[in-house]
Amino acid sequence: MAADAVTTAFFTHPLGDGAVLMPRTAQIAEAYHAVLVANNERLARWEPWAVAVPEPDGTREFLEQAAHGWLAGTQLPVAIGVAVPGGGYRIVGSLGLRIGRTESRAELGYWIDADHEGRGLVRRGAEVLIEHAFGPLGMDRVELTAEVGNLRSRALAERLGFTEVGVEPAAIVFPTGSRDRVRYALTAADWRAARP
Ligand SMILES: CC(C)(COP(=O)(O)OP(=O)(O)OC[C@H]1O[C@@H](n2cnc3c(N)ncnc32)[C@H](O)[C@@H]1OP(=O)(O)O)[C@@H](O)C(=O)NCCC(=O)NCCS
Repeated sequence: MAADAVTTAFFTHPLGDGAVLMPRTAQIAEAYHAVLVANNERLARWEPWAVAVPEPDGTREFLEQAAHGWLAGTQLPVAIGVAVPGGGYRIVGSLGLRIGRTESRAELGYWIDADHEGRGLVRRGAEVLIEHAFGPLGMDRVELTAEVGNLRSRALAERLGFTEVGVEPAAIVFPTGSRDRVRYALTAADWRAARP
């Protein structure tokens, strides 16, 4: 088995081609930290939280908070794994929903390792989370935001059926200055209409 393979996931959700979603909790802290560090420079281009290179303790704390959020019903944090020969999964990305029950609205976030980009893994994972948001979670609306220049993320939002609802000027604050953010929304009705 590969040294960095994760074998502790209690359950997984298949995405096809040996890829899965699994709970993004502190159980996968080491493997998650490794992929985060490997992609740090790339993620820091778009995400202020990635500007400081993460420390292992910080990653563990972030994962613990996400798991608490899951138990509290305020988050749905998952990691993307790909099967490795000999058993287990290599962690290659992350997806999550932040759930606002009172507003009946969830916010979708995602990133994937550079070597696993362009395979449809994020799209398939996002579809699972959106289906869960509009199904069992009973949300009316899923939103996502991206820096206006993040064309790859915007293309994915549009492939998923999101509609652009506006640009928020200077809404993303980087140490080097603020950048504009575009917001997308998808309603339960539009999601269902696209999937008769
Ligand atoms: C934004 C990001 C998550 C998009 O990832 P992605 O892998 O391009 O997205 P998808 O999963 O939709 O894959 C799409 C590509 O897979 C291809 N693909 C291959 N097999 C596929 C399949 N079975 N189903 C769907 N698409 C498939 C598509 O044709 C498309 O190819 P293209 O990029 O050449 O057009 C990724 O670029 C990333 O992590 N960026 C850095 C972090 C970031 O920006 N996060 C978002 C902040 S808002």
